[in-house]
Amino acid sequence: AQQVPDILSAEFAADPYPAYRLMRESAPLIWHEATQSYIISRYDDVERVFKDKGGEFTTDNYDWQIEPVHGKTILQMSGREHAVRRALVAPAFRGSELQEKFLPVIERNSRDLIDGFRHTGSADLVADYATRLPVNVIADMLGLDKADHQRFHGWYTTVIAFLGNLAGDPEVTAAGERTRVEFAEYMFPIIRERRENPGDDLLSTLCAAEVDGVRMSDEDIKAFCSLLLAAGGETTDKAIAGIFANLLRHPEQLAAVREDRSLIARAFAETLRYTPPVHMIMRQSAGEVTLSGGTVPPGATVTCLIGAANRDETRYRDPDRFDIFRDDLNTTTAFSAAADHLAFALGRHFCVGALLAKAEVEIGVGQLLDAMPDVRVADGFEPVERGVFTRGPQSLPVRFTPRAD
Ligand code: HEM
Repeated sequence: AQQVPDILSAEFAADPYPAYRLMRESAPLIWHEATQSYIISRYDDVERVFKDKGGEFTTDNYDWQIEPVHGKTILQMSGREHAVRRALVAPAFRGSELQEKFLPVIERNSRDLIDGFRHTGSADLVADYATRLPVNVIADMLGLDKADHQRFHGWYTTVIAFLGNLAGDPEVTAAGERTRVEFAEYMFPIIRERRENPGDDLLSTLCAAEVDGVRMSDEDIKAFCSLLLAAGGETTDKAIAGIFANLLRHPEQLAAVREDRSLIARAFAETLRYTPPVHMIMRQSAGEVTLSGGTVPPGATVTCLIGAANRDETRYRDPDRFDIFRDDLNTTTAFSAAADHLAFALGRHFCVGALLAKAEVEIGVGQLLDAMPDVRVADGFEPVERGVFTRGPQSLPVRFTPRAD
């Protein structure tokens, strides 16, 4: 049988998809020495772990994966503790709260960024737009000073590097721990101030939120804001860059989206399947669990390959083809817990920000297409994806006819 490239190898980093196929076909359960984890790649297995109907998995792995940078967040919680904390934060990310308060925030921040390059005829959609919008939006939603957006950008970069530090680089670990301290020093005075003088922002909402007599402590709120930076920043950034890279590689689909903006939601759902921003999520087994290819002992770390599961040929026809019109991906449920791709996970930790991410992409892509109707990749440029844990285009230089207005 063909050797499966190691997930920490250069070959894998350059293009993980051939390795994913080999794993699904012939090695659906791999013991991986370097990360001390069992790697799974088939859709049905990853779905089963995320849904966790039988209570066979915990998120105890986050105690070492994210606790050192974020503190305790809802990702580490389970049972009632998780349900209550999630109920405290979830309303801010859906329905009228999202529509009325935060869509204008997205529109404004997106327009500000586009104004920075619309008259020039060229831009790097990654550096000038995708890496900026989600962090700016979160900082703005929280009601933080615009002057601090740049610091937020730096923090989220170190936090996400910590999370993806599978090889255990000590400098990356140290930078992540420094960020935890700096972020706490920054947030605590603001949280205290917001408790005294509440405003119309998300931070004030989090301070006041109450479920079953439970309120969030300063530490809870700080940890949640820190999680928002990574969970909502890095991911949405890769999604925005990814949808553009995919559409630019398929000009006929780009033309269709340009004509009919309602197709952005389809293009986004297919992007999440085809090139998900988060490629790996870990869980810990509570007891012994049997999955395709073997049995996992109690207390083991299981690495769930979302990037592999989303291209499972038993689930999708011609899975390596990007096709916004595919009929085997339900694009109406793609942003809810009934999603039939795994980019937002499933089950109790299903991404709380899925609708916010969708709104950012719909507004952002729409505004970008308005500003650059003839957008094309810069001559001779071929987008290169980077990252193993999270993955997306490294840069995306484009050209377009500058607008006179
Ligand atoms: C959870 C992906 C956008 C906030 C998750 C998880 C995934 C994910 C895979 C599950 C983690 C796990 O089960 O271990 C994504 C992707 C996004 C995105 C691909 C963009 C396309 C956002 C945004 C926010 C956000 C915009 C908020 C600002 C969260 C939070 C959780 C989460 C708070 C934890 C939920 C819980 O533990 O109950 N996300 N996310 N995400 N996401 Fe997102």
